[in-house]
Amino acid sequence: MNLQTHFDRTIEKDQRIEPRDWMPDAYRATLVRMIAQHAHSEIIGMQPEGNWITRAPSLRRKAILLAKVQDEAGHGLYLYSAAETLGADRDELVEKLIAGKQKYSSIFNYPTLTFADVGVIGWLVDGAAICNQVPLCRSSYGPYARAMIRICKEESFHQRQGYELLMTMMKGTEEQRRMVQDATNRWWWPSLMMFGPPDAESAHTERSMAWKIKRHTNDELRQKFVDMTVPQAEALGVTLPDPQLRWNAERGHYDFGEIDWAEFKRVISGNGPCNAQRLARRRAAHDNGAWVREAAAAHAAKRAERTVA
Ligand code: ACO
Repeated sequence: MNLQTHFDRTIEKDQRIEPRDWMPDAYRATLVRMIAQHAHSEIIGMQPEGNWITRAPSLRRKAILLAKVQDEAGHGLYLYSAAETLGADRDELVEKLIAGKQKYSSIFNYPTLTFADVGVIGWLVDGAAICNQVPLCRSSYGPYARAMIRICKEESFHQRQGYELLMTMMKGTEEQRRMVQDATNRWWWPSLMMFGPPDAESAHTERSMAWKIKRHTNDELRQKFVDMTVPQAEALGVTLPDPQLRWNAERGHYDFGEIDWAEFKRVISGNGPCNAQRLARRRAAHDNGAWVREAAAAHAAKRAERTVA
C-alpha cells in the first residue's frame, strides 16, 4: 500500500496519525500553523489577566489568578512541544510571533479595564476556548489531541473560576454589578470572533475537516457557544449586548446579530486596540529572558559532557 493510501485509510478509520507516520506536507504545515497559533495565543493570553495579579482584591483571588496565568504558560509550552513533534523549531516559531509574522488569537488584543474583566474572560473567553477545543481532543494528530485533553481540563477550571467570580460580584454592590455588565458588553462580540471567520470565508476549514483536524466548522462552534451561554447569562443576571438575540424554535438555536467582521479583520491584521502593546511586552520578556536560556543551554552542555566522560 502506498504512503498516501495508508494515510487516507488511517484518517478514514478515525485512527491517529503519530509523529513518525508519513503525512502529506500540507497536513503537516496546517498542523504547525494551527498549533503554533494556539501556543502563541496561550503565551500572549497571559498578559491581559496578568495585568491584574498585583491588583487582585484579595489573597484568594490573587492565588487563583496566579494559578490560572501559570496554567496558560504551561499550555503554551506544551503546545510548542506538540509543534516540535512535527519538526517545527521552537525558536523559529517564537521569532515569527515576536516579528508579527504568525498570528495569535484576536481576543487577546483587547484591554482589561476592571477586575470584572478577569471574571468575564474566564466565563466567555475560556468558555469559547473550551467549546472550540473539546472537539480537538478527537483531532486526527495524536500529540495535539492528547495535549488538548489536559488543556481542556484546566480550561474548565478557568471557566468556573470566572463564573464564580462574576456570581460573587453580582451579589455585591450596585457598582460591582455595573462593572460585570460593562465587561460583558465589551467582551461578548470579541468572544464570538474567536471562532474565526464565517464558514463561507474560512480558507482552511474544508481541508482541515476532511483531514479530521477540525471536527466542526467555525459557525457550528460559534452557534454552540451562543446556545450554551445565553442561559448562563440569564442565571447570572446580565444582558448580552445583542438586541437580535432570541430563541428560534424552528431551528432549535438562538438567532444572533451580525458580527462586525471589519473589526475582526482589523484586529487579526495587527491593528486592534492592544496588538502593538502585546507584542512589545512579549519581545521585551523574550529579550530579558535571554540570559536564562543561555544559562540553561550551558548547564545542559556541561551535563552532557559529564555523561560522556
Ligand atoms: N484570531 C486570530 N486569527 C484567526 C482567528 C482568531 N480568532 N480566527 C481565524 N483566524 C485566522 C486563521 O488562523 C487563518 O489565518 P492564516 O491563514 O494566516 O493562518 C485565517 O484567520 C482564516 O481562518 P480559518 O480558515 O477559519 O482558519 P482555521 O481553519 O485555522 O480556524 C481556528 C481558526 C478556529 C482558530 C482554528 O485554528 C482553531 O481551532 N485553532 C485551535 C484553537 C486556538 O488556537 N485557540 C486560540 C485561542 S483560545 C485560548 O488560547 C484561550
